[in-house]
Amino acid sequence: MTDYRSKFKANGKLRSEEWFNNPNNPAMTALYLERYQNNGYTAEELQSGKPVIGIAQSGSELAPCNKIHLFLSERIKAGIRDAGGIPIEFPIHPLHENGKRPTAALDRNLAYLGLVEVLHGYPLDGVVLTTGCDKTTPAMLMGAATVDLPAIVLSGGPMLDGWWKGELAGSGTIIWESRRLLAEGLIDYDEFIRRACASAPSLGHCNTMGTASTMNAMAEALGMSLPGCAAIPAPFRERMAMAYETGKRIVHMVHEDLTPSKVLTRDAFINAIRVATALGGSTNAPPHIQAIARHVGVELDMQDWQDYGFDLPLLVNMQPAGKYLGERFFRAGGVPAVMGELMHAGYLNTEVLTVSGMRLGDTLADIRSADTEMIRSVADPLREKAGFLVLSGNLFDSALMKSSVISDDFRQRFLSTPGAEHTFIARAIVFDGPEHYHATLNDPALGIDQNCILFIRGTGCVGFPGSAEVVNMQPPDALVKAGVTHLPTVGDGRQSGTSESPSILNASPESVVGGGLAYLQNGDQVKLDLNLRTLNAVVDRDEWQRRKDNWTPPELENQTPWEELYRNHVGQLADGGCFDFATKFHRLRNALPRDSH
Ligand code: FES
Ligand code: MG
Repeated sequence: MTDYRSKFKANGKLRSEEWFNNPNNPAMTALYLERYQNNGYTAEELQSGKPVIGIAQSGSELAPCNKIHLFLSERIKAGIRDAGGIPIEFPIHPLHENGKRPTAALDRNLAYLGLVEVLHGYPLDGVVLTTGCDKTTPAMLMGAATVDLPAIVLSGGPMLDGWWKGELAGSGTIIWESRRLLAEGLIDYDEFIRRACASAPSLGHCNTMGTASTMNAMAEALGMSLPGCAAIPAPFRERMAMAYETGKRIVHMVHEDLTPSKVLTRDAFINAIRVATALGGSTNAPPHIQAIARHVGVELDMQDWQDYGFDLPLLVNMQPAGKYLGERFFRAGGVPAVMGELMHAGYLNTEVLTVSGMRLGDTLADIRSADTEMIRSVADPLREKAGFLVLSGNLFDSALMKSSVISDDFRQRFLSTPGAEHTFIARAIVFDGPEHYHATLNDPALGIDQNCILFIRGTGCVGFPGSAEVVNMQPPDALVKAGVTHLPTVGDGRQSGTSESPSILNASPESVVGGGLAYLQNGDQVKLDLNLRTLNAVVDRDEWQRRKDNWTPPELENQTPWEELYRNHVGQLADGGCFDFATKFHRLRNALPRDSH
């Protein structure tokens, strides 16, 4: 493969000039040139050696969390032009968490594949990735990682804070709270709906530290957006200014040849893992970060989350792990303030390069929290040892637990101090998918009580398909009315990043491919030991083997061609849910695609 720099930069040519200015093949050049002039550009402009910058547009009316980008793109374009570039906007496949069935997670890899083809096949020298709603950020970063064209993330930003009857109403988190109040008979269906809608008062993505805020913060922590980008609420004027600065910056990045592979190093990923703990970030972050790492060719695995992240403290007081929402997080200093606090305590690698062109340490300088009620210091955190735990046992090779949302009561029961009793022997209640859970949860014959653990299976990448956000199961109504609002839950699916449930989730391998959860039966004894990080079915070995021998994989019905393709190639959540055939492709921009004229 020819190195981009030697091929294009040494002879003074940009990649886009292979399309727009190639005297060796005038017919080809003319065909490209004549039609792109219909965007209003002159041939002279397109042949002048100005970087052509793509704007990967994720906003649409199907993807309202990112709709702000339809307006921000004018400011991005202004920045690109002012820095001497030529902007070209193009759409990506819509990814809306609350709109797409069976789940937007199924489409993350579809948007990724589409973006790779666009970045590889069109006359682009760099790209602005417009992110926001949960899967848009990883899909874009995965695509940029594979192609390795200079790329910069522009987050759309969270919605304004939601309010309901004088109290903060946070995206998603209010749904899980309302679900309990409904089960207890304290609110009715109408109030349920009105409370939920009050949490979404403006354009922007979820205003809690759910998957959207987490993944945009991860993009910034990885060094892929300008400092301060992630937390600016979507409607604020600072967001428009950030769009302009981002547009300017990408043009310089093309001249500097500053590509994702120079930013997305293993040290940058370790920094991101540490920031995820301090944020109280979503359980969806580990699989997405894993996927980005694999596509850029960096070694990372689930154990890294525990090894580098678990011992760190929770600093950010934001729902679901804390109290507040995005506006206050922004005013407290956002991601740079969190990273400043971590850096001050020696937790970050400050040498890594960021898209700003500077070392991380230089971008943070002496930035600290501007509001210590919202962003605490490492010396005075909200919670010690607040990262993800990685569990294993005969039910799965790995599963995650988000310890920052474990309540004090729950902590005392299951994650007690050394020396105290810390194993929990429970009776397993097993649901085959969300439909089975909803249909049978309140059946008294199941006899669900405080000594049960709820399991759900058939909800992973292959099983659901795409992996469902269902592991944060609520106990039966009768138990909730009696004050038992949480039981331990386990599953091969995911849960919403806005959930405060201390679930054990993302269990890999999933049941439908023969993971241990497949052999569990209602009423089996299971033993949970959080201090040893194990969960095991306490079933006689011969009996367990007999169940394995008699097991046949369930028939999976595909409703669309994409589901069939996806299921045939997707991996497990522990590996990022990537396609088996895709992770071997790196730095595509080093090879020009052929021309058909
Ligand atoms: Fe789109 Fe939460 S639903 S960000
Ligand atoms: Mg979700």
